[in-house]
Amino acid sequence: MKALLCKEFGPPETLSYEDVDDPVISPGKVIVDIYSASVNFPDVLIIEDKYQFKPSLPFSPGGEASGIISEIGEGVDGFIVGDRVIVSAGWGCFVEKILVDPSALTSIPDSMDFDTAASFLMTYGTSHHALKDRADLKKGDSLLVLGAAGGVGLAAVEIGNAIGAHVIAAASTEEKVQICRDHGAKDGLVYKTGSLDRDEQKSLSNQIKDLTAGLGANVIYDPVGGDYAEPSLRAIAWEGRYLVVGFAAGYIPKIPLNLALLKGCQIVGVFWGAFKAQFQDQHNDNVADLLKMYDDGHLKPHISGVYDLSNGAKAIKDLAERKAKGKIVVKVKS
Ligand SMILES: NC(=O)c1ccc[n+]([C@@H]2O[C@H](COP(=O)([O-])OP(=O)(O)OC[C@H]3O[C@@H](n4cnc5c(N)ncnc54)[C@H](OP(=O)(O)O)[C@@H]3O)[C@@H](O)[C@H]2O)c1
Repeated sequence: MKALLCKEFGPPETLSYEDVDDPVISPGKVIVDIYSASVNFPDVLIIEDKYQFKPSLPFSPGGEASGIISEIGEGVDGFIVGDRVIVSAGWGCFVEKILVDPSALTSIPDSMDFDTAASFLMTYGTSHHALKDRADLKKGDSLLVLGAAGGVGLAAVEIGNAIGAHVIAAASTEEKVQICRDHGAKDGLVYKTGSLDRDEQKSLSNQIKDLTAGLGANVIYDPVGGDYAEPSLRAIAWEGRYLVVGFAAGYIPKIPLNLALLKGCQIVGVFWGAFKAQFQDQHNDNVADLLKMYDDGHLKPHISGVYDLSNGAKAIKDLAERKAKGKIVVKVKS
């Protein structure tokens, strides 16, 4: 079968597209024929050995995908050959066939196509867990989303809007902010790219305060970090919740703790992968909730690019270079 492989750690250009042996079925496992995979920021990090999980070389990147079960190992219950499934594997999905544990699978509803299914779980799962379980976002709260047109960002915009929050989308271009408005954001702001000096940070804080009638945002969803974090926290409301989701800007900011005291606010960590591993029942309830929101038309995953598997490296490069809006899909089989 064909596979996109990371044989040495490095940027997307170092990935190699080649033939590898098909996986062989074993007891307790299933083989899924992959139709679509999607790119997430962790794929950018994992190929450069900058992610918290470190697979041994060679490996295929691609944390999630969708497809059809083609073989079932002895002792597997709950799935049959022909089932349409989402695969949440962490890595290994930029291939034509994958051998996985059934615990990595989620059934796809009939109403959802393969591209959407491959783009769904990590982004919406993370943002749903963050906003519902970690921030207790309520109807009427103001919600500031940084990197709002990215994968987890746009999911947060839609889920926040579905909950009834007043969503403010912050992104690097007017085009990205407009996509967020199309997905339910009520307000938006464009921030500068690159590092922000003191005045630019102050101006970002003021923009957020202006959009929240001087009160600050009740909840801030931050998958970006870097220079955007502190000025955003300075514009949080009294008793606000600041969600630490990721550091797409490339560095982990250090925050003066007096800000938490002055705002009576909480700085809350979000780690969806660890949550779903430890709290499987709660995670399953969250997935059921998300699929219902999808069926009810509240969630409309935005896919801004589709690449063939042979071009998977370009898909990861585009995401790393901030060219993605919503999700990028790698098409494996039509
Ligand atoms: N905590 C968790 O459980 C969890 C789960 C999934 C993902 N994450 C993390 O969440 C972050 C976003 O993931 P994602 O898959 O949504 O990525 P994504 O689609 O690439 O979105 C990231 C956004 O960050 C912004 N950004 C700002 N500075 C950037 C830079 N220097 N390089 C690239 N992007 C930059 C971009 O928006 P603008 O151009 O508008 O600034 C981009 O749209 C990552 O750090 C990822 O590791 C965390």
